[in-house]
Amino acid sequence: MKWIYIEEIANYKDQDVEIRGWVYNKRSSGKVRFILVRDGTGIIQATISSEKNDHPLFKKFDLLTQESSIILRGRVREDKRAPNGYELNIDHMEIIQIAKDYPITPKEHSTPFLMEHRHLWLRSKKQHAVLQIRAEIIKSIRDFFDGRGFLLMDTPVLTPSACEGTTTLFETKYFDQNAYLTQSGQLYNEATAMAFGKVYCFGPTFRAEKSKTRRHLMEFWMVEPEVAFAYLKDIIDLGEDLILNIIEQVIKNNQKQLDILERDTKPLENIKKPFPCIRYDDAVKLLKEKGSKIQWGDDFGSPEETLLSQIFDNPVCVTHFPAKIKAFYMQPDDERPDLVLGVDVIASEGYGEIIGGGQRIYDLKLLEQKIKEYNLPREAYEWYIDLRKYGTVPHSGFGLGIERTVAWICKLKHVRETIPFPRLLYKIYP
Ligand code: 4AD
Ligand code: MG
Repeated sequence: MKWIYIEEIANYKDQDVEIRGWVYNKRSSGKVRFILVRDGTGIIQATISSEKNDHPLFKKFDLLTQESSIILRGRVREDKRAPNGYELNIDHMEIIQIAKDYPITPKEHSTPFLMEHRHLWLRSKKQHAVLQIRAEIIKSIRDFFDGRGFLLMDTPVLTPSACEGTTTLFETKYFDQNAYLTQSGQLYNEATAMAFGKVYCFGPTFRAEKSKTRRHLMEFWMVEPEVAFAYLKDIIDLGEDLILNIIEQVIKNNQKQLDILERDTKPLENIKKPFPCIRYDDAVKLLKEKGSKIQWGDDFGSPEETLLSQIFDNPVCVTHFPAKIKAFYMQPDDERPDLVLGVDVIASEGYGEIIGGGQRIYDLKLLEQKIKEYNLPREAYEWYIDLRKYGTVPHSGFGLGIERTVAWICKLKHVRETIPFPRLLYKIYP
């Protein structure tokens, strides 16, 4: 008999098939027994009915508990009353295991309890919806860059130097040297962009962020495009297109999951290009008007980002930050060298920064000076400096954080549910 997945059930109307899965729930009504079975691709109702109360499968049915693993065979029937329009009239059941005392019952559980059981929590409907949307977002991003001729260039995870400041490095041994887990593929992207014109990397990045917020993970995934000869405005334009493409593809392909999450997609559908773009100076003024205590020169924290994103319906781009609060590689503004040509894109609906990027320094002397100013060990950056010696050009790029994007699109309170196994402050189990 043919083993099929529940998601393809509609193709097998009135045929006999085999389903392999887990018991989601069960109930009886008169002479019928219902088993809700999930197989990872969907849930189907399997039925056993008998004229008398003695169907041979009834005894097996009585043994079934939540998450018991089973193999069922039966005929696919169209039935308007069934949860997804089809049910399986079974005549064969093999029990692989009866699960005893599955800890996640249909009652409410606290989040710490669920996080402790993350390996099992992944089986629940809402987590399923979130992670399916995550997979679609990743797919949409790859489609977007591949479709525009960007070359995927994987960057190393083990690195000898810091990209985003030395305070959040995870250090490890690399034989007799020290190495760090990468904070960003950007520096290597700059080299591959000079080799291939336009590139992107997509991988896990690591930051020992000592902040416990709903936006920070210690390990998160970032997609980072880098484009030779691109200026700040070019990269903002690219970021806008990327975000619009993600929204469009998720709304088109994940309606079912968005419904499960009760996500009202109107605010996402209303997002249009160009996004409002304001300078850091003006952002600070706006924030002060709204009651924030921020002073010129301060970096935005989560409260400021939330405030800003509540002022606009669209995501908003903030540019021209004080150089002091940004990384060493950022290109200074010609007119105001105390400012840099960086951009943060703040998502709408209170979600905060999802993109960080900008234009990079391409002048050799200036870069050498910055490396000194930021107290970085020059030896580790020689190769990076080389890029400014051999055909240097203006270039720009950015990084988009996957987990924050998923949290926004799904409208979740916390990024911890946007990745199968989140790495949180001081917590690495399961
Ligand atoms: O603004 P960030 O630090 O930028 C960079 O790393 C650049 N080198 C990227 C580039 O230009 N190629 O980080 C980029 C994005 C943030 O906007 C945010 O979405 C995400 O990465 N991010 C985090 N997400 C979850 N947890 C954390 N601790 C994050 N830190 C940054
Ligand atoms: Mg940033």
